[in-house]
Amino acid sequence: LRRRAAASVQRLTRSVADFPQPGVQFADLTPVFADATGLREVIDALAAAAHGRADLVAGIDARGFLLGSGVALAAGTGVLAVRKQGKLPPPVLSQTYQLEYGKAGLEVPADAIALEGRRVLVVDDVLATGGTVCATVDLLTRAGAEVIGVAVVMELEGLGGRDRLTVPLTSLVAV
Ligand code: PRP
Ligand code: MG
Repeated sequence: LRRRAAASVQRLTRSVADFPQPGVQFADLTPVFADATGLREVIDALAAAAHGRADLVAGIDARGFLLGSGVALAAGTGVLAVRKQGKLPPPVLSQTYQLEYGKAGLEVPADAIALEGRRVLVVDDVLATGGTVCATVDLLTRAGAEVIGVAVVMELEGLGGRDRLTVPLTSLVAV
């Protein structure tokens, strides 16, 4: 499952030089998600990371949304959107994290759904420094959830993201 998904990701990813900054090679997953087979393979491979143990899938704003509800359907769970700061009505739980320049925040509803004791699989498109995913894990943990794992399509090695994580990480492709 995972090997087939990885092959499709490698075949369909568009590599863009000097974006978003000079010297950076950007991996654009747009063609992977726009391909019917690629999307299905990626969704199924990410859902397998739940090992049947998740009862909720959390997708991270914004590109993680493209995966979150598909993975939830495949894993037989509901989906939770982890939103960028300022998008959700109060009350919210917030977690700030460090960007290269400045800070950002992620939020989940504080009382719209019960997160206490939920077994959550976190999904996103790319793991780079790990700031986004770590903030999400911290946020869900503070809400009382048990994060059973993190699943991403692509892991950028050498940025230390994997080492920052305290939960099991599944990545379909490491570059
Ligand atoms: C990108 C990507 C991951 C994150 C990875 O999201 O979709 O969520 O960066 O980087 P990190 O591991 O260093 O935190 P971005 O915040 O650019 O926004 P988007 O998903 O809304 O496009
Ligand atoms: Mg993102």
